[in-house]
Amino acid sequence: MKSLKEELLNLKRQDLYRHLNTMNAAQASRTMVNGKECILMSSNNYLGLTEHPELKAAAKDAVDLWGTGSGGSRLITGNFRLHEELEETIACFKGTEAAIIFNTGYMANMGAITALTGRDDIIFSDELNHASIIDGCRLSQAKTMIYPHKNTGVLEELLQQNLGYRRMLIITDGVFSMDGDLAPLPRLVELAEKYNAWLMVDDAHATGVMGHRGAGTAEHFGLEGRIPVQIGTLSKAIGSSGGFVAGSYDLIDYLRNKARSFIYSTALPPSVIAVALAAFRVLQLNPQIRENLHLNAQYLRSGLKEMGFTILTEESPVIPVLIGDANKAMQMAQQLLSLGVFAPGIRPPTVSPGMSRLRVAVMATHTRDDLDKALAAFAQAGQILGVL
Ligand SMILES: Cc1ncc(COP(=O)(O)O)c(C=O)c1O
Repeated sequence: MKSLKEELLNLKRQDLYRHLNTMNAAQASRTMVNGKECILMSSNNYLGLTEHPELKAAAKDAVDLWGTGSGGSRLITGNFRLHEELEETIACFKGTEAAIIFNTGYMANMGAITALTGRDDIIFSDELNHASIIDGCRLSQAKTMIYPHKNTGVLEELLQQNLGYRRMLIITDGVFSMDGDLAPLPRLVELAEKYNAWLMVDDAHATGVMGHRGAGTAEHFGLEGRIPVQIGTLSKAIGSSGGFVAGSYDLIDYLRNKARSFIYSTALPPSVIAVALAAFRVLQLNPQIRENLHLNAQYLRSGLKEMGFTILTEESPVIPVLIGDANKAMQMAQQLLSLGVFAPGIRPPTVSPGMSRLRVAVMATHTRDDLDKALAAFAQAGQILGVL
């Protein structure tokens, strides 16, 4: 039998061994990583809300009022009035009849997919969907057909060839997490409606980011009311923690009864819920925060392109800077960190071989000075490593 040590050694030989970086300060645009001050250039805290005074105050007040833990699952003793208020807020924000909170976005995907599909059903899943979707599909035991990234032509052929299942479910990320591109939602909606399939969109990276109110990709494409299962996370732009599903009363009622990751886990603590509630208030009252995010993304992208870096997509604040070779991508990340910029390398199995990259993400709270310093570091690191 192969020992764990051998397997770990193998990972090291292939440059695929993972280690943790340590944050020594808050998740802010300027922070400290592994004891070194740096500009944070890969956070999912897109709007910088984890440092917002209203969110911090909401957490402290909630601890004083409600205590620290929730003490039970939602269906037993852990359902505070705050949880219900947040679900009502999310439904209103997404323009759906109802919403349900899960403890993470990962659990929202796992819970929704396994509750909605089983052995008699079929799932059509984009090849670049997030791991939590892939795991949900596997656990559901539904037949799963993977279609090439955003290829709605192949998807339609697969739909035509696989009629007759009890339920058909098309699943896609809204904004793809490592590529930053958008799902072809208008066409996916047409196909789902034509073939009487459900459409499930994971807006983990679009919530608070895309659309004129930040409500996500449905709003961005003007498709409100036409995506029956909408997933989101509270852990990224919302600056808190947790995930959710938004949709019809029946869908949410069904998930409350059937989604095992909802039923069998202790509810999120009141302070986490209070922070998310504060974030939705801040989002609504301060649209300029989201506008800053997109302006910053545009500025950084243009600067990197002018230097000669290959930017894979240009549709969201996720800026994938292609390096190619896994080892080179990790060296580039290391070089950048030594120059005071934290932009981790992403390599297989998270992305395909030859597609290793730096996953750069801007924040609304980056200043021009932060972005100019980051660009200078990219230029220097790129030259040192012969990437440019
Ligand atoms: C597309 C996508 N879905 C779901 C998740 C999981 O969300 P969470 O971090 O809240 O578990 C992530 C990221 O972690 C993601 O990128």
